[in-house]
Amino acid sequence: MKRTCLLIHILTLFILPTQAQKFEGLAMTPPMGWNSWNTFGTDINEDLVKGIADAFVEFGYKDAGYTYIVLDDGWMAKERDDNGNLVADPEKFPAGMKALADYVHSKGLKFGLYNCAGTKTCAGYPGSRGHEYHDALLYASWGIDYLKYDWCNTGDLNAEEAYITMRDALYAAGRPVVFSICEWGDNEPWKWGKDVGHLWRISGDITPCWDCELGHGNWSSWGVWRIINMREGIRAASGPGHWNDFDMMEVGNGMTTSEDRVHFAMWAMLASPLIMGNDVRIRDEATIKILTNREVIAVNQDPLSKPAFRLIDEGDFEIWIKPLSGDDWAMCFVNMTKSEKALDFDWHFEHIGDNTINRTLDIQAKTYGIRDLHLHKEIGSTGEKLSAVIPGHDCLMIRLTPLK
Ligand code: GAL
Repeated sequence: MKRTCLLIHILTLFILPTQAQKFEGLAMTPPMGWNSWNTFGTDINEDLVKGIADAFVEFGYKDAGYTYIVLDDGWMAKERDDNGNLVADPEKFPAGMKALADYVHSKGLKFGLYNCAGTKTCAGYPGSRGHEYHDALLYASWGIDYLKYDWCNTGDLNAEEAYITMRDALYAAGRPVVFSICEWGDNEPWKWGKDVGHLWRISGDITPCWDCELGHGNWSSWGVWRIINMREGIRAASGPGHWNDFDMMEVGNGMTTSEDRVHFAMWAMLASPLIMGNDVRIRDEATIKILTNREVIAVNQDPLSKPAFRLIDEGDFEIWIKPLSGDDWAMCFVNMTKSEKALDFDWHFEHIGDNTINRTLDIQAKTYGIRDLHLHKEIGSTGEKLSAVIPGHDCLMIRLTPLK
């Protein structure tokens, strides 16, 4: 009898394919962290990472919920070693990646790396194509918690298949890894990414401007509003464990404080991952205040996990709304012009609701209190008009909560 059981067990192991999958239970709310690319490009090293980890703790980023520190392109030596292993650039990372991961972990944070589905990364370092299982084992041995996986030099690879291969390799290696799909939205990952990764970029690279396109020959990078407006109909694709990724943030990287406030508010509203892209070692109070605003972060991390949508576009003003858990709502009134504008919003004038979840802001039956998430104070209720003066390229971000 025992022998039959053993035989069945062995047959199951060999005949039935192992059900590969992504790691479930990770990124149940949008991942929060930092990535090196926007500010440092390939000019990265271990002191930078340690300094970032220290700043996470010192300036309150860790307490605000930021967890992942991710090294982007440029961490490797130009060649694999004789055993086919990726090698951390010995000049940039003399102590090696395991030691660096240990340092980040010792701060109670998590550590991530970048690679690419192609033969080379976008900056010309060794890619993972044909080495997926080998690389995944190496990452696991180093203690890597997050992998951003890019799409340069991929030839005629099928994106979904290539990302599934890396997903399966990570799963087989056994260490839970948040898998970040980065193929710029070219292959509509919102249609297939849910079972493959935990987040997927929906656009090409961001650049720190309100609404510009910056050409680089055969590709462009995009300002905040270009990215927000780039895709139609992807809202429903986001949810616990699988998020539309509007790219690493540019808060603190050169836009005005007002524009940074809108950028952060919108990433929170859209339930985008909140991955900082600035030099967080710099003690810049305005930037720290924006990025650690817990009331705004709570909107992003809300357990209902529904992204915002544009409720009203008046040209000068855009009004965005995000249903929250309980019977709360977040709203963002964005002044799209460069000059100050007066807002005079009559709650009785508009039907406000989210048809996809059958929820209405029922101001006939209930009165909602209004809280300003930037000033951290109550500013009235839906019983009266909402009046405010909003500076150019700034926003009023509020939370509505039914009054008892
Ligand atoms: C791009 C990617 C950027 C950055 C860069 C590194 O493809 O969108 O976020 O990772 O590659 O070379």
